[in-house]
Amino acid sequence: MWEKVQETVSYIQSQTQFSPEYGVILGSGLGGFTDDIEIEYTLPYSDIPNFPVSTVQGHKGALVFGTIGDKKVMAMQGRFHFYEGYDMKEVTFPVRVMKYLGVEKLIVSNASGGVNDNYEVGSIVLIKDHINMMPEHPLNGKNDERFGPRFVNMSDPYSLNMILKAKEIAKALSITVHDGIYLGLQGPTFETLAEYKMVKILGADCVGMSTVPEVIVARHMEMETFGLSVITDMGNEDNIETVSHAEVLEAAKKAEPHVRNLIKELIKQY
Ligand code: HPA
Repeated sequence: MWEKVQETVSYIQSQTQFSPEYGVILGSGLGGFTDDIEIEYTLPYSDIPNFPVSTVQGHKGALVFGTIGDKKVMAMQGRFHFYEGYDMKEVTFPVRVMKYLGVEKLIVSNASGGVNDNYEVGSIVLIKDHINMMPEHPLNGKNDERFGPRFVNMSDPYSLNMILKAKEIAKALSITVHDGIYLGLQGPTFETLAEYKMVKILGADCVGMSTVPEVIVARHMEMETFGLSVITDMGNEDNIETVSHAEVLEAAKKAEPHVRNLIKELIKQY
């Protein structure tokens, strides 16, 4: 894995000398954020050695390098999900690559189903913690100490300082934000009503199929991480309407301008 990561990093550095401080992973329907980047270089995943290729509709597949204000950023336009058939090492491979390209702060966005009654479709949730209920762990297997320690402290996976700054920015921009706990399940089915209920009973506010593995791996390498979720559907018993991928994308698209502004300002100001 170490050699593969270094090989990929060397390839990318042979294409661009750009050294980003911020890494951004864009979730379903939130890929338009790259329009906020003064782009210097775009690299399709299909050109990058060892990179998987995204298969989900609504996710593009490219690394975008550029600046926001005076900050250097790289963004993943499209991420890899466990449910696509990748193993957790593949899902999190790009985060390892980001680290060795110089990224110190990782910002992750996603779409999720809300189970907190204070949320509605379109709500923006700053992730303050997560519950990992995915069936495979990205750090399973022999640990390579060059990446990080065997046993990773997960008492503060989401940077409190970044959350506080994001709240300050949201207030200044009159954007309503919540903070909440994200529970990660493998998907690809959306939850049954009983499962949404379980998510709520377990103490989470929203549920989705991504983010948790990437954040674990980022913390393994001591990257500062920030996660943001857009509620694209509400999972509760009164809601007998079915949720579809099209609805998820549509709801995410509606919240996207706010999400973009929040992330943009966070990068500029943090
Ligand atoms: N469940 C899981 N993942 C999701 C959901 C959901 O309701 N909405 C968007 N991603």
